[in-house]
Amino acid sequence: MSGAKTRNIKDAKSSKATALYPTRNDIPEDQRAKLVALMNARLSELIDLSLAIKQAHWNLKGLQFIGVHEMLDGFRDGIDAHVDEVAERLVQLGGTAHGTAQDVAGNTSLKAYPTDIHKVEDHIKALADHYAGVGATVRQGIDDTSDLGDEDTSDLLTGVSRTLDSNLWFLEAHLQEG
Ligand SMILES: [Fe+2]
Repeated sequence: MSGAKTRNIKDAKSSKATALYPTRNDIPEDQRAKLVALMNARLSELIDLSLAIKQAHWNLKGLQFIGVHEMLDGFRDGIDAHVDEVAERLVQLGGTAHGTAQDVAGNTSLKAYPTDIHKVEDHIKALADHYAGVGATVRQGIDDTSDLGDEDTSDLLTGVSRTLDSNLWFLEAHLQEG
């Protein structure tokens, strides 16, 4: 599989910048501004992924329905916990979290999750593509936030990345035969 095709990423675009509010946090303001923009972009993708998981959970049809249906509720809980961590981290840096439906639709780098599929396999493939897209940007964010002098945010994204990789493994295990 080629990486670009299975990562489900739209053309790159810059995320919205907003003014910072004062904080005693000692990371320089210009670095915090970049960190906030980066984390708002990751926030949009993670919320996008969270919504896609329920879209699949509700609309699955097929013999593997119940196992995948229930698996996806666990995935959703895990991603939602990271959504909260990412949003609160960027607010700690003096930013404003952009988590509305309108902001997410405008800021996410992922292509729209398909609404015309129903087979279990089709949803697993579509979700795997969505996960791969978020996984790639979060992994890049680990290095980028470290380069910006914020090892705490880098560490936070490392935890997110581990969850994304684990969930992707579960999805891909449904598509592969031993
Ligand atoms: Fe449910």
